[in-house]
Amino acid sequence: MKPICFYKKSNTTPVKVKRILQIISPFTLVIIIIIFIWNIITHGSIQHPGKSSYQTKCAQCHGDNGEGIRVLIPPLLHSDFAKNNFDSIPCWLKNGISHKIMVNGVEYEQPMYGLDMDEVQIANVMNYLSKELLDTNCEINSIEVKAKLINCN
Ligand code: HEC
Repeated sequence: MKPICFYKKSNTTPVKVKRILQIISPFTLVIIIIIFIWNIITHGSIQHPGKSSYQTKCAQCHGDNGEGIRVLIPPLLHSDFAKNNFDSIPCWLKNGISHKIMVNGVEYEQPMYGLDMDEVQIANVMNYLSKELLDTNCEINSIEVKAKLINCN
């Protein structure tokens, strides 16, 4: 006797879908890579994790590009003072700086107040500063920042 095949007809659609998926699946990876490259092209590069902290915590005074504000706020861009005292930056960010300083040959004397930042934010912002504004290869991690914060005077 001939068997009755109830499912034969309804089976044809999933098979078709399966077939379509089989055809397009090799391209999905290619599409993802294209979107990724397109993102890098349109957004310049993948954003540094310290950039958003810089923009919310530092840029209002030091400027978006670290240019400073004339005689009032010293620049961070290529600041010799920040390069030579990189290790002291965690304490400056925690407690502020209020003495006369010399940055790239110009004297500044406005106080900078301590900022409410944790060691991870400080490390990220310092690495952003080092790479993008000071043009150095100094790097610091949150454990090193924490150790420096304990020894601030
Ligand atoms: C309210 C304004 C203000 C904010 C916000 C601020 N600063 Fe400053 N910063 C100053 C001033 C003013 C000085 C100069 C202090 C002095 O003359 O003693 C200074 C000095 C510095 C210096 C040393 C001088 C130099 O230019 O190299 C560094 C480094 C620095 N700031 C980094 C930062 C970073 C990083 C942030 C953000 C996390 C930040 N500041 C946020 C006002 C600010």
